Amino acid sequence: MTTASSADHPTRRDFLFVATGAAAAVGGAAALWPFISQMNPDASTIAAGAPIEVDLSPVAEGQDIKVFWRGKPIYISHRTKKQIDEARAVPVASLPDPQPDDARVKAGHEQWLVVIGICTHLGCIPIAHEGNYDGFFCPCHGSQYDSSGRIRQGPAPANLPVPPYNFVSDTKIQIG
Ligand code: FES
Repeated sequence: MTTASSADHPTRRDFLFVATGAAAAVGGAAALWPFISQMNPDASTIAAGAPIEVDLSPVAEGQDIKVFWRGKPIYISHRTKKQIDEARAVPVASLPDPQPDDARVKAGHEQWLVVIGICTHLGCIPIAHEGNYDGFFCPCHGSQYDSSGRIRQGPAPANLPVPPYNFVSDTKIQIG
C-alpha cells in the first residue's frame, strides 16, 4: 500500500488547519480594534482635529506603534539606549536639516520619539526599523531617517515632523 506522509505532501486538511488559524488571528485583531478605538473620540471628531490620547505602557523598548491623528500616520518609537546614544552622537552641523535630538523629544522622556510618518520627499510612508541609521527607510526613493527621525540620506529635504504632543502621565501622551 502506498501512503503519503503529510510532512512530505501537505494535505487539504493541513491547509485548512493553517487557514483557520490565520482567520482566528485576524478576527482577534479586529475584535481588539473597536475596543481600543472607543477610548478616543469618534472618527469625525478626530478627523476634525481633536486631540487623541495614546497609552504607551504596552509598547516595549525597541518597539514602535503607529496611530492616526488628523488622518496622518504618527510613529511612536520606544527607543533603546543604543538608539538614543546614536542619535545624540551625530554632529548636528553635518545633518541636511540640522536639529539636535533633544529638540525632537521631551526632556525626561528621551526614550520616546513621536513623529509624523510621512516622508518629506513626496509623501510616502517610511518603514520603521529599516535603513542604515536605526530609524526609518522610505521605499519610494530611498530616503533614510535616523533614530531621531532626521533625514540622513536620500532625496528627502527635511526631518520627519514632530506633531504637537504632551505627556499627560509617564505612560500616556496626548497628541494634538
Ligand atoms: S517619497 Fe520618500 S524618498 Fe521619495
